Amino acid sequence: MTVKKGLKDAYSLKTPMDSVNLYRAWASTYDNDFAIKNDYRSPSEVVKYYSKYSKKTDTPILDVGAGTGLIGECLREQNSRKIDAIDISSEMLNLAKSKQVYSKFIEADLTKKLNIASSQYGAVLSSGTFTHGHVGPEVFDELVRILKPGGLFIVTIHTGVFHNQGFKQKLSQLGKCISPPVFHKVNAYGSKIDKKHGNDKVIITVFRKKMS
Ligand SMILES: C[S@@+](CC[C@H](N)C(=O)[O-])C[C@H]1O[C@@H](n2cnc3c(N)ncnc32)[C@H](O)[C@@H]1O
Repeated sequence: MTVKKGLKDAYSLKTPMDSVNLYRAWASTYDNDFAIKNDYRSPSEVVKYYSKYSKKTDTPILDVGAGTGLIGECLREQNSRKIDAIDISSEMLNLAKSKQVYSKFIEADLTKKLNIASSQYGAVLSSGTFTHGHVGPEVFDELVRILKPGGLFIVTIHTGVFHNQGFKQKLSQLGKCISPPVFHKVNAYGSKIDKKHGNDKVIITVFRKKMS
């Protein structure tokens, strides 16, 4: 029997192991029963802002908490830049593999030091990963480390965690090595989702790693 998974389960996660367990169970129904059904817009919003802010040199891209690869799919419609996927869930990454848009798959816990050399990526993109029950601002240090100097960072941060989980402070702390962040508040879902989450918003946070 398949037990239906959804936002209530996702927002109540507490540890990376909880994520592994939830997304193992959710992976096969995530795209149809969650993303399509609820008109989930965060991945396409990230790609929209990537198109707005990116230069030809902002490559390769790392999709952080890539899940089933919805950012990769949106990006495929726009251009053909090299994109890698990182996620803690092998089941979600397997779904992303089936989309045939990513070059490399990295199964890793973002809350740990990443086994990726510094200054590798021209862009870091992420949707739906900086939210209730998932990962917090402490992850930004490693993501900035693996960005090339001048590299572009565009991630969604749920408004429900932006202030009370220290994202604002982390961005100030990083001030010496990043450009002043630009924020765009957008709807995470279209009109199809239930009343409770109909007004959920994410803050698309955009900056570049300074050249030195
Ligand atoms: C809501 S899904 C978003 C997936 C995709 N980016 C999207 O927008 O559809 C959150 C993703 O973050 C991943 N995740 C959660 N905690 C993680 C961690 N500690 N390290 C790496 N990935 C994590 C989950 O496995 C899941 O695929």
